[in-house]
Amino acid sequence: MSDFPKDFLWGAATSSHQTEGNNINNDWWDAEQKGRVGYKSGLACRHYEFYKEDFNLARQLGHNAHRFSVEWSRIQTKEDYFNIEEIGHYLDVVKTLKGQGLEPVVTLHHFTNPLWFAELGGWENKKSSAYFSSYVEKIVSHLCPYVRYWVTVNEPLIYVYHAYLIGTWPPHQKSIYKAKKVTRNLALAHLKAYALIKKIYAEKGLGPVHISIAKNMRYFVPASRNPFHYLTSSLKDYFFNWRLLNYLSRHKSLDFIGVNYYTAEFIPENNMKFKNIRRNNLGWPIYPDGLLCLLLRLKRYNLPVFILENGISTNDDRERWDFISAHLKILSRALRQGTDIIGYIHWSLIDNFEWDKGFAPRFGLIEVDYGNYRRSLRESARKFAEVCNAGDLKE
Ligand code: BGC
Repeated sequence: MSDFPKDFLWGAATSSHQTEGNNINNDWWDAEQKGRVGYKSGLACRHYEFYKEDFNLARQLGHNAHRFSVEWSRIQTKEDYFNIEEIGHYLDVVKTLKGQGLEPVVTLHHFTNPLWFAELGGWENKKSSAYFSSYVEKIVSHLCPYVRYWVTVNEPLIYVYHAYLIGTWPPHQKSIYKAKKVTRNLALAHLKAYALIKKIYAEKGLGPVHISIAKNMRYFVPASRNPFHYLTSSLKDYFFNWRLLNYLSRHKSLDFIGVNYYTAEFIPENNMKFKNIRRNNLGWPIYPDGLLCLLLRLKRYNLPVFILENGISTNDDRERWDFISAHLKILSRALRQGTDIIGYIHWSLIDNFEWDKGFAPRFGLIEVDYGNYRRSLRESARKFAEVCNAGDLKE
């Protein structure tokens, strides 16, 4: 018996601002020009021009799915203006994916906002979810014949943390009050988008359509017997991993649970017990077992789980394969233990712009040479391809 179901979705992800290049109408671009985020995305990977070549590589690598994000600031360049050519671009993107046998998994918001929206107060504005809905309505009505999986908002809490709590991402705020308000508005944006997408598909007689968010989940490990560490770890676990999911699930607005898993957090950080733990080159502990615990706990929602991101920043490609194979083993164990998992999407298809860390972190299955934008397949990509093709870990 093979490790993974026959119709399992295998693929890799990208996001618009990190790969496309020249996203000149969003808040990140603006912050980059003003020197507020350390690096400039510039042409990024020129994926906006080279998406066909990139999808061709994905298909050669045995993928049958691909996750990408639509850049809101390209679609709605002003509050009252939708750019039909840019809608045409993403229409071509989904048609190309379909033509290559890749199931499109489309993210509607991946950290960047149109500048006009940011200038109106962004996600602090009480009309923010209504603005988002107008964009969602427009793009979904065009792409719906080709798309079955939508991700409304990527990692709402990671966005809130960086943009409204520690202030490293635009709009560089440090306010618990604003963070709470923005979290509420993002949740509302999801609820409205969920209902809207269902309505559009119903009206057009299309479906079924599967909608979720991409929830970054982290495994919190109390690293000592100290009750204070236990308490801190369970509070972090509740507020970071479960609170928003519980809320969205209570409102019946999730058709599956989209999970992004990278790392674990030890409490306290500096506990000697974990001094030998391997880390990626950004310092994040590598902890596949944490994914198993989270997957088993996700069974409580009675919804399929879709891994929408999992990956490692490293300059040593053998480490990348170790990371991938360790996490895939965990998935096959979780499947055996009754978690319904429908797919695994790796982060990322190609090296890309890692936000305030620039281009140095390498997360790609495919290497990008930023001198000439040439792509080269990494060995880990070929090994992953064997698993995608066989649906089996062969070990
Ligand atoms: C984000 C990606 C990012 C990746 C690696 C995720 O939190 O969705 O945009 O590149 O992590 O940091």
